[in-house]
Amino acid sequence: MNNVIEINDLLFEWNNKKQFSLKIKELKVQNKQKIIIFGRSGSGKSTLLNLISGILSPTNGTLCIKNTEINKLSQKKKDQFRANNIGVIFQQFNILNYLSPLQNILLPCFFTQFKKNNKEYFYDRTFALAQKLDIKKNILLQNNSKDLSVGQKQRIAILRAIINKPFLILADEATSALDENNKNDFINLLMNLCDEEKITLLMASHDTSLEKNFDTSINLEKVLL
Ligand SMILES: Nc1ncnc2c1ncn2[C@@H]1O[C@H](COP(=O)(O)OP(=O)(O)OP(=O)(O)O)[C@@H](O)[C@H]1O
Ligand SMILES: [Mg+2]
Repeated sequence: MNNVIEINDLLFEWNNKKQFSLKIKELKVQNKQKIIIFGRSGSGKSTLLNLISGILSPTNGTLCIKNTEINKLSQKKKDQFRANNIGVIFQQFNILNYLSPLQNILLPCFFTQFKKNNKEYFYDRTFALAQKLDIKKNILLQNNSKDLSVGQKQRIAILRAIINKPFLILADEATSALDENNKNDFINLLMNLCDEEKITLLMASHDTSLEKNFDTSINLEKVLL
């Protein structure tokens, strides 16, 4: 079986609060699929992505990522599993201004292989990927990231998400801050890199015009029980 994400009878409720619950009877995602998740504001898109990355744990039911029930792992193992397997792209990209672009990209590596004498490999990989995305070396090596353009930030965010060779990228509203040109560039870069690196992609969005770029769309309001 080729499913890299399998959700069964999932229930999620916030602590002691009954206003919102996310219920998903079944959701299966195959390796290398590109899926866009739609749903009105507050329907639980970010909650679902946070459950898949193990930031949140289901109240009931099972959620397996690559045959692993991540919520059953210890905190340390969970953090390692996430760092090794999952790349995340945030809505506002969350680039840390006080780090250089290079340090921003390498940040996820500090939780994984980077410590194990693999620094050269990750530096080489960063410079090679940056070249592919037309980010010059002098930009990567700037002292800080506060003066990056939106277009540069979005490419740094993509590189940070893929640097650890994840099998899965979770992108939460990652195009909502972008104008039309930047949006198209961002989607094209992300799609090409996911194809080249054989990455499964799950993206949450309000923007139905993006649907054509994906294999499948999920309307969260419809998969709910
Ligand atoms: N930390 C929290 N504690 C309690 N309730 C929360 C918390 N975060 C989100 N919620 C609630 O969970 C529900 C789902 O929120 P979520 O952020 O997943 O929606 P969303 O589909 O991502 O919305 P948007 O499109 O606006 O980003 C909402 O009703 C929200 O109020
Ligand atoms: Mg959200």
